[in-house]
Amino acid sequence: MASRLPVAVLLSGRGSNFEALAAAAPTGGYEIRGVVSDRPAAAGLERARERGVAAHALPPGHYPDRAAHDAALAARIDALEPGLVVLAGYMRILSPPFVARYAGRLLNIHPSLLPKYPGLHTHRRVLEAGDPEHGATVHFVTDQLDGGPPIAQARVPVLAGDTVETLSARVQGAEHRLYPAVVGWFAAGRLAWRDGCAWLDGRVLQAPVQLEDTDESGGADRAS
Ligand code: GAR
Repeated sequence: MASRLPVAVLLSGRGSNFEALAAAAPTGGYEIRGVVSDRPAAAGLERARERGVAAHALPPGHYPDRAAHDAALAARIDALEPGLVVLAGYMRILSPPFVARYAGRLLNIHPSLLPKYPGLHTHRRVLEAGDPEHGATVHFVTDQLDGGPPIAQARVPVLAGDTVETLSARVQGAEHRLYPAVVGWFAAGRLAWRDGCAWLDGRVLQAPVQLEDTDESGGADRAS
């Protein structure tokens, strides 16, 4: 059997995206080597342990500054020897040296249709704006917060009577299909970062792939 792409996951919370990624790993061509969190109480750490995945907490308060914390984080990640580092609800801003260290193999999922609504409280902002649709974006991470080249998006409707809770649950359902699909593309060698751009199947992505337009194994009928 071909070797599987080793993946490290960083998270701060519930870990539902970790769970979706772990569930899809056997058919996705990757394996999750370990999970690292800045929050010892993150439920995602327990979910990882239940799946037999190594789980570590590195609380920022144990380090003098962000640079020291990020250096410890990088050491922990490097010990896993990952080919890809996946941010799955990691809620701390990463320092430029950390981002540079993993350039081209660092992905994030963000709960909005970027470039709309970078930052926090995306569901509330979508509801306040009266947008008819919302969704999630997977992108390569750069120094620009939620601003790296987008790879793929999944869209959901905003329904009458939606609350932050109902809308975020719908977006998370979409995230759980989107993230494993994109990590699978990377594991298959189809997705790459070159010259500051995201490439899929040897072509620069001018616009993110829309998940509805794919067969989810990655056969993309996408905008070019
Ligand atoms: C996800 O909805 C993800 O998009 C968001 O955190 C949630 C984590 O959920 N990420 C961000 O807001 C990053 N800026 P999970 O812990 O259940 O996977």
